[in-house]
Formats: sequence, structure tokens, C-alpha cells
Amino acid sequence: MAGTVVIKWGGGLITHKDQLCTVNLEIIRSLAEVCSKTSKKLVIVHGAGSFGHLKAKKYRLAEGRISGIDQDSAVIDVRNDMLELNSVVVKELRSFGLDVQSYSPHQWANGTGADFTGELPLHHGVTVVYGDVVDDDTKEFGILSGDDLMLRYSIEIPNVERAVFAIGGVDGILRVPPSKAGPDDLIEVWTPNMEFEGEHAADIDVTGGIGLKATRGAMIAATGIEVVLINGEIPERVLDAIEGKSVIGTRIESGNC
Ligand code: IPE
Repeated sequence: MAGTVVIKWGGGLITHKDQLCTVNLEIIRSLAEVCSKTSKKLVIVHGAGSFGHLKAKKYRLAEGRISGIDQDSAVIDVRNDMLELNSVVVKELRSFGLDVQSYSPHQWANGTGADFTGELPLHHGVTVVYGDVVDDDTKEFGILSGDDLMLRYSIEIPNVERAVFAIGGVDGILRVPPSKAGPDDLIEVWTPNMEFEGEHAADIDVTGGIGLKATRGAMIAATGIEVVLINGEIPERVLDAIEGKSVIGTRIESGNC
């Protein structure tokens, strides 16, 4: 039986990150096509990009309930915006003949960070989940990042062969911010003891930027699962990464071995 690959489609990859609620349809379509070319069982976790971070930042949703700010409609809006982005992802995957089922985290997950609770839903075909505004027992609500979903799916569901983080605009983890990087600045193998100067886009990103992907990646790698971070704009790389072939990108290791 083919093994399972858990793959993140970063929000910055599948949306135009600085234009509110704008999908990058071309990229979503190319990723969907790649997914139709593999016999691996897939769990796809997608990010939010401009469908989540901008409004979540404005209404400080990651911090939970804050008195004095009317956050209720923002919680509903961001959930609806994410449903809209998710429906595009699902539609494109189905257009390539894939049997897809999507599960909105606000309906089954509680809490944020790596220790969120809720049973991980799994479909016999392609499973899709995404970063979302979820209920939280202490702060009322919060933002559950797709990177935390990556961690938990990768280490908890059976037969996971590898985890792939597909991101936009860069070939992997770079030693210096992308705007200053040259071809030699790609880190081919990254371990948590290595420094890098990622671009965190703190002004728009309410979760953790590339740093969170790297840390969650290392936690996955610590369980013996292969982890690779690649440029999701290049379909051949995405397919090779899913298939476990050697690919330009950053392999993430735990550093414990
Ligand atoms: C963020 O999810 C979810 C919301 C802001 C609603 P992610 O952390 O997985 O999103 P990206 O990949 O950074 O856009």
C-alpha cells in the first residue's frame, strides 16, 4: 500500500498575500494537478495568506478575547473567508478527479499551538484541513496554524512517509532574507541549532512565518519522518518531494541523531 504524505500549501503560495482575499488560482491549479499524479495517500494542509492574516491581525484574533474590541464579526468573517479559500482548493483538486474531503478545524479542533485537542479527521481519499480560527477553552478563540496541523497529522496518523512544506517565493530556508539572497544561500540541510535570518513579515503574519515551519518540521523529523521544505511554485519539485526523490530545497533534520 502506498504510504501517506502530509503536505502544506503555504498561504503565501496559494494567495496574493498583500491583497485581501485574493487566490493565486494558477498555483492552486498546478498543485492540484501534481496531487493527481501521485499514488501516495495525501493529507493537504493549507494556509491562509490574505484570507486570514490581514483581518486576524487587525482584530487581534490570535490573542483571543480582548475586551474593548468588537471581535465577534471578525471571527465569523475570517472563518467564512477561510471557507471560501478552502472551497477553491477543494474544487481544483476535484477537477483533477481526486476523491477529496475537507474538514474545517473550527468544527473539530479546540485550542491553538502544538497541543490543540480534537480527533484528527481522516478521509480514505485526499484529506484537506487548514489554518483556522478555532474555539479555545481559556482565551475563547484563537488561530490554529496549519503548521501545527502538519505536526500532529504527520506524527499521529498511520504510515506517514514524509512531510512536505511547499512555500512561495523561495527555494527553501535561506541563510539571509530572500531579498538579499543569492544561489549559495539556500540551506540544504537545516537543524534547529542553525541560525537563519528569515523574513517573518510580522506586520501581516499572525502565526509564525518560516520560523514556525522550521520548528514544527524539526519536531516531525525527530520522530524519524522525512521533512522537506520546497518552492511550491515549481510543480516538478512538488511532485519529486511527494515521491521522495531528491529535490532542490531544505531537508529539515531534528539534530538529535
Ligand atoms: C493561519 O494559518 C490561519 C489564519 C490566519 C486564519 P497558517 O499559519 O497555516 O497560514 P499561512 O500558511 O501562514 O498563511
